[in-house]
Amino acid sequence: MEFPVTRLRRLRRTAALRSLVRETRLEPESLIYPLFLCPGEAVRKEISSMPGVFNLSIDEAIKEAAEAASLGIGGLLLFGLPEEKDENASGAWAEDGIVQKGIRALKATRGLDDLVVISDVCLCEYTSHGHCGVVKREGDLYEIENDSSLKLIARTAASLAAAGADIVAPSDMMDGRVSAIRKELDEKGCSQTPILSYAAKFASAFYGPFREAADSAPQFGDRRSYQMDGANLREAMREIEQDLVEGADMILMKPAMPYLDVIHAARDRFDVPIGAYQVSGEYSMLQAAFARGWLDPERTMLETLLSIQRAGAGFLVTYFAKQAARALA
Ligand code: PBG
Ligand code: ZN
Repeated sequence: MEFPVTRLRRLRRTAALRSLVRETRLEPESLIYPLFLCPGEAVRKEISSMPGVFNLSIDEAIKEAAEAASLGIGGLLLFGLPEEKDENASGAWAEDGIVQKGIRALKATRGLDDLVVISDVCLCEYTSHGHCGVVKREGDLYEIENDSSLKLIARTAASLAAAGADIVAPSDMMDGRVSAIRKELDEKGCSQTPILSYAAKFASAFYGPFREAADSAPQFGDRRSYQMDGANLREAMREIEQDLVEGADMILMKPAMPYLDVIHAARDRFDVPIGAYQVSGEYSMLQAAFARGWLDPERTMLETLLSIQRAGAGFLVTYFAKQAARALA
């Protein structure tokens, strides 16, 4: 035979043919949009390393949520910047904490019913030292205590659920947090609140810009004694397994782009809903290239999100949620 019989280009000839055989489709309803709530009114403060991302007072966050809802975005992921920080992260679990107030305000607003309100659960935005758990110091040495942190994390989750969060999402990486949270939720009458655990969260340089946005950089040391080593895929499977045993309803993988293999391995192995978080540094590096005219914003953004979905993520947390939803409309 002179010519190839198999010609894969046949199905690439027209936009309609390509669409017919497309294996992965991005949809606005599988996008989750992160918001950073701060005290005050009419506050809209841009994060210098994250163009288009803001610290928002609750009134502004409601406008942002309404826009997200009108674009068909699936949900919000809330973070908070408290008025004050202390050793016990009291702003994280206070009944009138910034995120608790934000959730109540969102839930009291008409027209947002289709938005799933997810609350991040962690202590680092609320502790004076910026770590995700309780710190025990002995001279120059310090330790991030596991078990005493669990109490505060569980209390935080229950308080956010009581405020009306549709899902709570622990991101601290302490051992045993999912069962501690599940127990506390059930005891506090929130047995219907699902837990989305950041099951495999790697200690990553890509969180840099987030720590500016959430004012949550550790004041000493780093997070390597609790977040995972980026070299370890098998350990990521153990983290997921453990969280599922403890009662996680769904899992989140992060970062996304540098860890597509981990997302794929998780998808192959576990039959729970899996999401991935395209984190702040992934957003910032793309924005930096867009600002220089080096990459086409819309095409590049959609390609990154599609890749994360193709790797196995069913839902995507991304700072590009609004732009992506607009591009997909
Ligand atoms: C808090 C938390 C972090 C992120 C989500 N939850 C930061 C961290 O662990 O330092 C990172 C998100 C991002 O970079 O966009 N534990
Ligand atoms: Zn944290």
